[in-house]
Amino acid sequence: MRIQKLIIPVAASAAGLALSGNAMADEWKMALGDAAGGTQYELGTTFAELIEEKTDGEVTVKLFPNGQLGSEQDTVNNASMGLLDLSVLAINNITPFSPTVGVMTLPYVIQGPEDARTLTQGEVGEELTQNTIRDAGVRILGWAYSGCRRLTNSARPVASPADLDGLNIRVPKNEIMISAYQAWGVNPSPLAWSETFTALQQGVVDGQDNPYITIDAMKFYEVQDYVTDSCYVFSLEPLIISEGKFQSLSPETQELVLEAGQEATKHSYDYLIETEADIKHRLTEEHGMEIIQPANDEQEWIDLATGIWPDFYDSIGGKEKLDEVLAALGREPAPAE
Ligand code: MLT
Repeated sequence: MRIQKLIIPVAASAAGLALSGNAMADEWKMALGDAAGGTQYELGTTFAELIEEKTDGEVTVKLFPNGQLGSEQDTVNNASMGLLDLSVLAINNITPFSPTVGVMTLPYVIQGPEDARTLTQGEVGEELTQNTIRDAGVRILGWAYSGCRRLTNSARPVASPADLDGLNIRVPKNEIMISAYQAWGVNPSPLAWSETFTALQQGVVDGQDNPYITIDAMKFYEVQDYVTDSCYVFSLEPLIISEGKFQSLSPETQELVLEAGQEATKHSYDYLIETEADIKHRLTEEHGMEIIQPANDEQEWIDLATGIWPDFYDSIGGKEKLDEVLAALGREPAPAE
């Protein structure tokens, strides 16, 4: 199916983006942590168009980008309590509610889009979906594939972990990511996503990491000069629905919701593959960012960060969980402790 993208006036985006005028429709609210544009928005608008089409306009979705409905972690709580229908957010902001999901944010496990697709669309993804229903009261309907997280900063080119010395780096409130930076020798500042741009702008922090597409959508190039072309975590951004909301639907509508999630996921993968290289190019050519290659093929970063894996075996469900994931990716089990 060819999906038409909607052109939405800026004035509408401030108040939330309504995708239908049908007065009889059941209108669902969808929170987005990111600004309009980028992978969260692609997944969200695609799902909204598909579900409206599949239900003949009985369900419409109104998008609230830019953290208007709270921080990404708040939206998990709100959806869990039935105060919000849908949210698209980074996987690292679900982990605190459902720790087994942390296997997806262990550094250097997912090494690119194909790994991300293999895991999310296979048994691992299914098991994590069931776990988030159990632990967090939200159901993962689909995935935005946003690309590798790249370190940006405003101070200097960073090629090795030692170059981080003295820099104040923002990280999500996620124990695994905090630990990775500690392994690289710095004490990062955990900060909600909704506060990150302002913190960078005001110089409260010097840097952060997120994929090229997110750096562009959030206009981080206005406040950051250097990007390290690293890939320590691949950013997956699930679309979640309140499990209470899902269970309140008829079996037929549930089926349509699941289908719309799967089709939107496929679109998200294609969007990443088709746009990431151009966006990376634009960040340097149009916005003047400097891209730095990690020294020694990133080996020092990898050695230090993968050293934290054993610290998280308990929370992800044991070393065997990580080994299952590595096996699904055709890789060797993690080294014995
Ligand atoms: C974060 O850094 O908290 C998230 O990755 C941001 C996002 O949702 O894009």
